Amino acid sequence: MNTVPTLVGVLGGGRMGAGIAHAFALAGSNVAVIERDSESVQLARGRVLAAIMTSVERKATTEAAEELTARVGFGLDLSAFAEAELVIEAVPESLEMKVDALGRAEAAMSPQAWLASNTSAISITTLAQSLQRPERFCGMHFFNPVPPSKLVEIVAGKQTSDELIAAAQGWVASIGKTPITVHDVPGFASSRLGVALGLEAIRMLEDGVASADDIDAAMALGYGHPMGPLRLTDVIGLDVRLGISEYLHVMLGDRFEPPKLLRDMVERGELGRKSGKGFYEWPQEHS
Ligand SMILES: NC(=O)c1ccc[n+]([C@@H]2O[C@H](COP(=O)([O-])OP(=O)(O)OC[C@H]3O[C@@H](n4cnc5c(N)ncnc54)[C@H](O)[C@@H]3O)[C@@H](O)[C@H]2O)c1
Repeated sequence: MNTVPTLVGVLGGGRMGAGIAHAFALAGSNVAVIERDSESVQLARGRVLAAIMTSVERKATTEAAEELTARVGFGLDLSAFAEAELVIEAVPESLEMKVDALGRAEAAMSPQAWLASNTSAISITTLAQSLQRPERFCGMHFFNPVPPSKLVEIVAGKQTSDELIAAAQGWVASIGKTPITVHDVPGFASSRLGVALGLEAIRMLEDGVASADDIDAAMALGYGHPMGPLRLTDVIGLDVRLGISEYLHVMLGDRFEPPKLLRDMVERGELGRKSGKGFYEWPQEHS
């Protein structure tokens, strides 16, 4: 029987961190979300509460919402991780930021606790290099949006212990999702495939092959994807996609070189759903 950790720490309560916090709270864990400044704490709280309200609207009561809300704490002080069994890092996709955040999280945790990164593509072995206990560290790559996504990709770095991989598989099952386990290669399995398709779709738009709608329909209707690669890039965030493709370009070669259109759109602040405009207009949402 798979059991959820009693207390989960989440470092970074953005789009993904909030979703991860919600998923564990829903499964019965207490969760401590730590942010970088007071304004971000408020934003993180709002995101988690919105996720809770959506989930209870579907199938429960105000009482259940209050109970769920009470399970999630927010703050700035990493000492909240002292009793956590598992801490998941979800700060932005930058090697420098992640190394710094992971080092500080590890220092605040019990030596018996486990640490994971929600990185989309950065090598787990590289991130582990600056840690004191690399065997207690792995990748746990959640998908966006977290609540309806069924998959979590578990990434084993060179030094990750088998015990942690088995535990991570159990935690993923305990929150009602399905784990896949992959070796630590750049982009793992899902980002490598997803980014390859997304970049090709952007190049096709750049080359005037077809409209965004028609390129997306090719995959959505022709291949049964839940949404086309351009719409998915809007949902993920063009900045997030650019960061991953820059990294994969260095690690895996020219086939991952970011198209000019992607760079230009990010420079203009057209980041997709979160900014209100990407390949499509997203009038209502600004997270
Ligand atoms: N967006 C996606 O679709 C997606 C999907 C899977 C994985 N990821 C990965 O998840 C991670 C987070 O992505 P996101 O989309 O949630 O980003 P985001 O920008 O929405 O959230 C990042 C959060 O981290 C906080 N933060 C920054 N520095 C911090 C620090 N030192 N301590 C604590 N908090 C800090 C920020 O205030 C922000 O709230 C990235 O590694 C990304 O690649 C993203």
